[in-house]
Amino acid sequence: MSDFQDLVSATVNAFRDRFGVDPIWLVAAPGRVNLIGEHIDYNDGFVMPMAIDRYVVIAGGPFDGAAANLYSVNLEDAAAIPIDADSRPEAMHWTNYVRGVIAISAANGLDVPGMNAVVNSNVPTGGGLSSSAALEVATATLLEAVTGTTMDPVEKALLSQQAEHEFAGVPCGIMDQFSSVLCKQNHVLLLDCRSQTFEQVPFINEDISVLITNSGVKHSLADGEYALRRKQCEDAAAALETGSLRDVTLEDLMGRKDDMDELVFRRGHHVITEIARTVSAAQAMKSGQWERLGQLMYESHESLSKDFEVSCKELDLLVDLAKKTEGVLGSRMTGGGFGGCTVSLVKTAQLDSIMTAIATGYSAATGIQPAMFATKPSEGAHALSMASTVS
Ligand code: GLA
Repeated sequence: MSDFQDLVSATVNAFRDRFGVDPIWLVAAPGRVNLIGEHIDYNDGFVMPMAIDRYVVIAGGPFDGAAANLYSVNLEDAAAIPIDADSRPEAMHWTNYVRGVIAISAANGLDVPGMNAVVNSNVPTGGGLSSSAALEVATATLLEAVTGTTMDPVEKALLSQQAEHEFAGVPCGIMDQFSSVLCKQNHVLLLDCRSQTFEQVPFINEDISVLITNSGVKHSLADGEYALRRKQCEDAAAALETGSLRDVTLEDLMGRKDDMDELVFRRGHHVITEIARTVSAAQAMKSGQWERLGQLMYESHESLSKDFEVSCKELDLLVDLAKKTEGVLGSRMTGGGFGGCTVSLVKTAQLDSIMTAIATGYSAATGIQPAMFATKPSEGAHALSMASTVS
């Protein structure tokens, strides 16, 4: 059985154990890895994520009352939350993501009935792979199943993002929730974060794999620094007398370098060059220029580390080790930064030796054994039929 089928079966069994009946609704929403276009979504530019084959799965059934009775398999925690358009988040609780999507959907006029639900996930948490977006989008997908409605995909992603803002207090851009909703198997998502339009770019090449390596660290300054980066990008745009860095060329920026604060200049430099790199990366993928795509990923990391300063010594080390390892085409930090994961483009034939080389070098220097896995561009959020499950 695949990991995914195992996860689904475990979720169905946990529902039976907890509620004594079979679930009626079954949904899944994936985490994502961003190949390139980092800290760009809130700058109106292009990003190029793909869904990973790691999912949040929710099994649900009816409950006669205005509440959702939730159980998390991972946390072994049960909680009842109200179905109420006015409900507010509780301090630092995993149910806030579910609560947020339910409250906002109800406020938007969706008639949400009571339900029992079991949540299960194999998306690593705290690693920059969007485990929270996967939970929000899985909840929205569950609400579609429960109410027999279909949300517009963009509205569904925006609703999930709103839940992250208002119920988790994270001022994220649109990339993570859009990825979890819209990504397609065997494709990356080239998303224009300004127009919120997208292109599915095929990524089918058995010779090339995507390797995710978890540094195993998460530096505590991550949250405050994210909001600070957003502010510094606004400062860069203001210094260039534009509403958005998307509208500025590298020549415009270089022409104003001497008038600009040095740090604000570097933040702008990352954004402007990263938008261009992402457009080039999409071209490289479309024409099968894998070495070129890998090179752009290395350049992206350099820019995130030096200009944008969202990397850390552990992520830099992983990328340096990747660079020295035969069969690696490119590597970079992925997600918000300050720890979490790197994403590497590697030759499938050398996957095992690459994993050994990077893990050995990293644990020798840090004492941390990094979790690593190869992944494929996977399918975005979807409902599953109970008949497809193996118990
Ligand atoms: C986090 C946010 C995203 C995006 C990335 C950086 O994952 O949730 O919206 O800004 O950081 O690219």
